[in-house]
Amino acid sequence: MQVTMTVNGVEVTREVEPRRLLVHFIREDLRLTGTHWGCDTSNCGVCVVLVDGTPVKSCTMLAASAGGHEVRTVEGLEQSGKLDPIQDAFMEKHGLQCGFCTPGMMLTSRALLDANPDPSEDEIREAISGQICRCTGYSTIVRSVRWAAEQEQKARDGESAAGSTADEGTHETADHETAGATA
Ligand code: FES
Ligand code: FES
Repeated sequence: MQVTMTVNGVEVTREVEPRRLLVHFIREDLRLTGTHWGCDTSNCGVCVVLVDGTPVKSCTMLAASAGGHEVRTVEGLEQSGKLDPIQDAFMEKHGLQCGFCTPGMMLTSRALLDANPDPSEDEIREAISGQICRCTGYSTIVRSVRWAAEQEQKARDGESAAGSTADEGTHETADHETAGATA
């Protein structure tokens, strides 16, 4: 059967067996090997991708079921050569250890911050609770997500400050124009 979906902003169409799992479609047919494959029994979460913005274990979904949907893999986090704040955070706060669980962790964290820009530590732990990190504890991962949330908040504050300065500039220009028109 033929399946068409959007993967990282690009529409792809492939011939697939009806039983083909999304994880294999992504890794083998599209060669996007950033999505990992661990247990194949829906336990480890290393295969998580975003489907229409929601984290999904791609070993539990058929490629055919993803037809018509938007899939985002770890390769799609970077935009125009700029890393997503979540990627910066995992480097900065050492959330990236061996890296096996990292793609799924980052995508789940991205979805969390999109829904809840200021998550508590408990909320972060709950969000990633379906994913196993075999390396150490989860402290550095949680710290990374908090750091990304703070960076994104700073960026939003900077944008609104720049926006109000621009507005003031516009008002000043308008005042000048009004004054000029009156003179
Ligand atoms: S490979 Fe999908 S949950 Fe482990
Ligand atoms: S970083 Fe190694 S499994 Fe999580």
